[in-house]
Amino acid sequence: MGLKIKITALAISILVISGCSSTNSEPDEEMDHSMMSDGKMDHGMMMEGHMSHDEVVSLNDSTGENELKIPSQLKRDNEDDVAYTVSAQKGKTEIFDGTETNTFGYNGSFLGQMLRFEKGEKIKIRTINELDEETTFHWHGLEVSGDADGGPHDALKPGEEKVIEFEVTQEASTLWFHPHPEGKTAEQVYNGLAGLIYIEDDNSKSLGLPSDYGKNDIPLIFQDRTFDEKNQLNYSAAMNDDGTIGDTLLINGTLNPKLTVNKEKIRLRLLNGSNARNYTFKLNTGDSFVQIATDGGFLNEPVLLKEVTLTPSERAEIVIDFSQLNTENDLALISEDGSVLLSFEISDQSGAISKIPGKMNNFALTEEELDLPVTKKVELFGMMDMVTINGKKFDPERIDFTQQQGVTEVWEIYNKPDMMGGMIHPFHIHGTQFKIISRDGEEPPENERGWKDSFSIKPDETVTIAIQFKHKGVYMFHCHILEHEDNGMMGQVKVE
Ligand code: C2O
Ligand code: CU
Ligand code: CU
Repeated sequence: MGLKIKITALAISILVISGCSSTNSEPDEEMDHSMMSDGKMDHGMMMEGHMSHDEVVSLNDSTGENELKIPSQLKRDNEDDVAYTVSAQKGKTEIFDGTETNTFGYNGSFLGQMLRFEKGEKIKIRTINELDEETTFHWHGLEVSGDADGGPHDALKPGEEKVIEFEVTQEASTLWFHPHPEGKTAEQVYNGLAGLIYIEDDNSKSLGLPSDYGKNDIPLIFQDRTFDEKNQLNYSAAMNDDGTIGDTLLINGTLNPKLTVNKEKIRLRLLNGSNARNYTFKLNTGDSFVQIATDGGFLNEPVLLKEVTLTPSERAEIVIDFSQLNTENDLALISEDGSVLLSFEISDQSGAISKIPGKMNNFALTEEELDLPVTKKVELFGMMDMVTINGKKFDPERIDFTQQQGVTEVWEIYNKPDMMGGMIHPFHIHGTQFKIISRDGEEPPENERGWKDSFSIKPDETVTIAIQFKHKGVYMFHCHILEHEDNGMMGQVKVE
């Protein structure tokens, strides 16, 4: 299936170099935007060419021999109180038959349980560090105050615990949680610390979408790993400063996964939980599917797609209608280079009747938001361990920006190319969901017209977003290639 390139070292893309030297400076008519008008790249070329410094090692095809594991749902500590306990632990996991791999997990040996919240609930979580090293508990995409956000300032020492409390104020969405200790995030996630959060609300419950967890509402956490000859995760051996990638895909911690489905609409909640790999997901038959949700909520209408790309930490909910597909064929979710990620086994049962409503949300950019001037500029630059934001590396003592609670501002994020062209950086901001206003002055694609907390940004691309924080505190913003984050591609905004 397709050409498999096995190059782990840097292979510099000539296309990107030539694209970068372009002095094309078409004036931008739609927006008065000085940073954007100079040195724009030829976008056709960017699309065709490699967008990163690396030729990324291909993933091995899933043999489909193991049924996909579905994370169990975490139960409340007791019935009357909406309180949960989440404990970071180490353990051993049988990823490969007959061998034990040393792993980390939440309330278990590997990955975590799914937390299901309802909008309006007041939640209490007791977090416990049972590791031998410091960790934090970060709730990616959740609107919480800075002291509950679990950034690098909130490290718990081994044996320590902390109770956090918050109210769920945001709409139905798929979020996740992972550690965030300074300089150690990548390794801890790599070893297995990551879990899912489902938020539900009245809207999500009334839409009639597939929502039978584990049956037709399936979370898929995509993580690529390298296993050594003893089937261990050896982070320091696999580590790459420009983002650690592997040849072996795990979905929900399952090696060689397959998913058995009925002939019905299946909702897949895709999470790119990898340290650095980007995925373009498509069906091997070329059939279409619809995307129904972004990182932080439903799209207004389902968007028909043949493929969807997610950079690290991004989510997309898609629905594939297996009652409409020709199931004589072998069906699988594949990557852009043809690797089989997840094969589907279709049972002869017809399954549940669910629907995909034409109208799911009323997300919009307001006139006011469209008229706001840019008040914060973020410039991403560099590669390997030379990565910076606005020319600086992360300093826990330095506040880079301040913003008023409840006040919307427009941030402009620019990915400055380097001599080798540059690479895609997935940019993320803590503590809130925001709206993408433009990409290089144009409206974002239809499937980005919804709440986002992370987005990909190509070399020489400029993205503007409208962002408001509901709570106060110090929040991180950073590249979600976890090695870039650990190498200091991170800043802090203080909301007061
Ligand atoms: Cu997934 Cu700092 O975040
Ligand atoms: Cu986050
Ligand atoms: Cu980066």
